[in-house]
Amino acid sequence: MNKKKDHVFVWPIYTRIIHWLIASSFTFAFIFSLQENLLNLHVAVGIIFGLMLVYRIIWGFVGTKYAKLNTLKLSLAELKFYFIEKIRNRWREIPAGHNPASSWYTIIVLVVGSIISITGLLLYGIQEGKGYLGFLNDDYYMYMDILFDIHKYASYFVLVWAVIHIVGVLIEQFYHKTNMVFAMITGYKKAKGEDSKIGKYKSGLTYLFLFMSALVFFVSTDGRNNPFVASKYKQHDYKHESFTYYTECGACHHPYPPFMLPTSSWLRVKEGLKNHFGEEISPIMKKGENRISINDQTVIFNYLVENSADKSTREVSVKVMKSLDGARGRKSITKIQYWKDTHANIPNYIFKSQKVKRKSNCFACHKNFEKGILEDIDIKIPK
Ligand code: HEC
Ligand code: HEC
Repeated sequence: MNKKKDHVFVWPIYTRIIHWLIASSFTFAFIFSLQENLLNLHVAVGIIFGLMLVYRIIWGFVGTKYAKLNTLKLSLAELKFYFIEKIRNRWREIPAGHNPASSWYTIIVLVVGSIISITGLLLYGIQEGKGYLGFLNDDYYMYMDILFDIHKYASYFVLVWAVIHIVGVLIEQFYHKTNMVFAMITGYKKAKGEDSKIGKYKSGLTYLFLFMSALVFFVSTDGRNNPFVASKYKQHDYKHESFTYYTECGACHHPYPPFMLPTSSWLRVKEGLKNHFGEEISPIMKKGENRISINDQTVIFNYLVENSADKSTREVSVKVMKSLDGARGRKSITKIQYWKDTHANIPNYIFKSQKVKRKSNCFACHKNFEKGILEDIDIKIPK
């Protein structure tokens, strides 16, 4: 090892890789979470974040000298002394390993980061009905909101925490002139101590985790529906599920997936067929003039009610039901509060545009919606 004068080799390449992968995967996961249709990328980097945390914890037991978790300085008295010393003595010596502030920083990232990773994995199964945990959606769908809130606020917390950490490092760099920024790049810290050494099996462990991260990235962003990302919901073929519904209600617009509206809404649509958004649909009309026989109406609405939002554990159905808050469902999807909330940021001119025409034309922006698929990655506003 090429020892620099006055410097100690603190962070071997593996520790630095873990550090930067945790930092970058968190940052990217946060950025991707801002866009609904980037969910697959969010999940991909999120799992890398989780894997790196697991690796960091293992590294904390078997890793190099200064990365060991038992070297963290977690006494509050030491923390207080650290800050007092920092203010009093600009040119104080810094320890080779973690100082009390960075010890607390590390431990909290590990704990809160684990909470974020676990709730994220659960959400992917419970809320999205996807991946190996998709089966959890059946029995635990009612926890999707609380899991989401924990996931979200814990992430905000880590974001703020990371900003504090960065500010702390910059103060070290520019005020105390300890060259702290470069320690996590070159591995050398301007301090006294014994150099870190790395054994062979430790490098092997790093390669294993890097390989797993690359694999996760590949499988979760790969376009094919592999079991890692597959939805528990199969696509629908409404033509075969209910030919009557498909042909009669698909005459003027694509038939809407039944799980979009609650029973009370479908019954309202049924009652209002004589004036269906300005169209008259009735059994007494002559054939070809929007006639749907009483018999067919019964068949259609039995089918719709049987598959309505009240009967489904899909994210969208659960949220539609929740946003009704006990009130009777509206006749149209676009009048339901959940729909209004999720589309509030889309300006009106987009709905009026040539390719979309109207709000109820879900199919223009939600690819595969006519097959009952409502995937975040399928959302695309036509240009
Ligand atoms: C004669 C043509 C026609 C037929 C047949 C028809 N609809 Fe419609 N439907 C319309 C029109 C027009 C609208 C209003 C679209 C708009 O302006 O947003 C509409 C809107 C809807 C909406 C509300 C969409 C929204 O969220 O705004 C639902 C739900 C609906 N139809 C269900 C049905 C069902 C169920 C059937 C079969 C019983 C059916 N429709 C048959 C013409 C038709
Ligand atoms: C102009 C394009 C457009 C139309 C038309 C449209 N949507 Fe959307 N929809 C979007 C966009 C964009 C988002 C994502 C909004 C966001 O996250 O900021 C979205 C979000 C959603 C969501 C929430 C997805 C989630 O996972 O949070 C649902 C559910 C949804 N749309 C259903 C519908 C239905 C049903 C219709 C038809 C009645 C419809 N949309 C019509 C563009 C559209």
